[in-house]
Amino acid sequence: MSEKSPKLRAALDGIPTYKPGKPAAGDGPRSFKLSSNENPYPPLAGVLETVANSAASFNRYPDLACTALIAELATRFDVPLEHLATGTGSVGLAQQIVQSTAGPGDEVIYAWRSFEAYPIITQIAGATSVRVPLTDAEVHDLDAMADAITDRTRLIFVCNPNNPTSTVVRRAELERFLDRVPSDVLVVLDEAYIEFIRDDQVPNGIDLYRDRPNVCVLRTFSKAYGLAGLRVGFAIAHEPVAAALRKTAVPFGVSQLAQDAAVASLHSEDALRDRVEALVAERARVAGALTGQGWTVPEAHANFVWLRLGERTADFAAACEAAGVVVRPFPGEGTRVTIGEREANDLFLRAAEGFRKEL
Ligand SMILES: Cc1ncc(COP(=O)(O)O)c(C=O)c1O
Repeated sequence: MSEKSPKLRAALDGIPTYKPGKPAAGDGPRSFKLSSNENPYPPLAGVLETVANSAASFNRYPDLACTALIAELATRFDVPLEHLATGTGSVGLAQQIVQSTAGPGDEVIYAWRSFEAYPIITQIAGATSVRVPLTDAEVHDLDAMADAITDRTRLIFVCNPNNPTSTVVRRAELERFLDRVPSDVLVVLDEAYIEFIRDDQVPNGIDLYRDRPNVCVLRTFSKAYGLAGLRVGFAIAHEPVAAALRKTAVPFGVSQLAQDAAVASLHSEDALRDRVEALVAERARVAGALTGQGWTVPEAHANFVWLRLGERTADFAAACEAAGVVVRPFPGEGTRVTIGEREANDLFLRAAEGFRKEL
């Protein structure tokens, strides 16, 4: 018998594993999970009922083409059906986008730090990451990103608002950037948190995509819509990009439960909007309290706040955990804290205050 193990692609060597947010502690005093930018509210009753009904037929494959969901989205956003593609969360679509555009020798540009899936999916494709540091204000440095374009660049991610810093780029600077990108380089506007933005200078990517065939907008039902566990997201792009995303999709990847829940959620937007408003109000309260405690908090536009703690990051996360809130540390850099239910936010604020006093 041979001692050799199966040959795997060298491109996979050293790929960082995706770190999910740590779960809340299971037993003992109540613990809250503020580590994954999830929606803290349980499913809406109507959406839950829809999913329960769909569950009765999960012996069948789902609708491969996500027909009802695509039709609903096309009407809602006033885009042609052919410009839509669905995926297993927007991270699934992001991976399909990389697979569709970049391979060995090609470059993918993104800001850093940004969504941690970008380096992983780039490396899986065998392409090369080009990371452009955020500015001192924790914002995408779009001029530097445009300067980083070479003739090997195939794809650029712009995460707006940015995960984990919660910062945004605004319309004028984004348009100026897009004007500098060659038309054969695809720009993905990852708008996973767009529903939490309250700044009218921040553009809706769908307005920008309309007359720009090299712009693709990524959206998800995981955050504001509260369907993270069901895995459904969508992309809006011109042909041939949207067609490439349909080609690279895992067949039947989006379950019927997820498709039906997404349609039901689009029909329940008033209730969902109230929840998003409550989170936006909590975000203002949390950010204001942190500033009052003496922290520097970049203006937050998503459902999380960012504290650049440097070497104190791990200690801060441990202090939060001891107080009953699990946050998301990026060791040596900073901590991302999801806005949760009021009780969780209060616990977090108390922990942050205690930590601050000991500095
Ligand atoms: C910026 C960004 N994009 C995409 C995603 C992926 O979300 P999902 O795959 O659940 O749609 C996330 C999740 O945290 C994110 O932060």
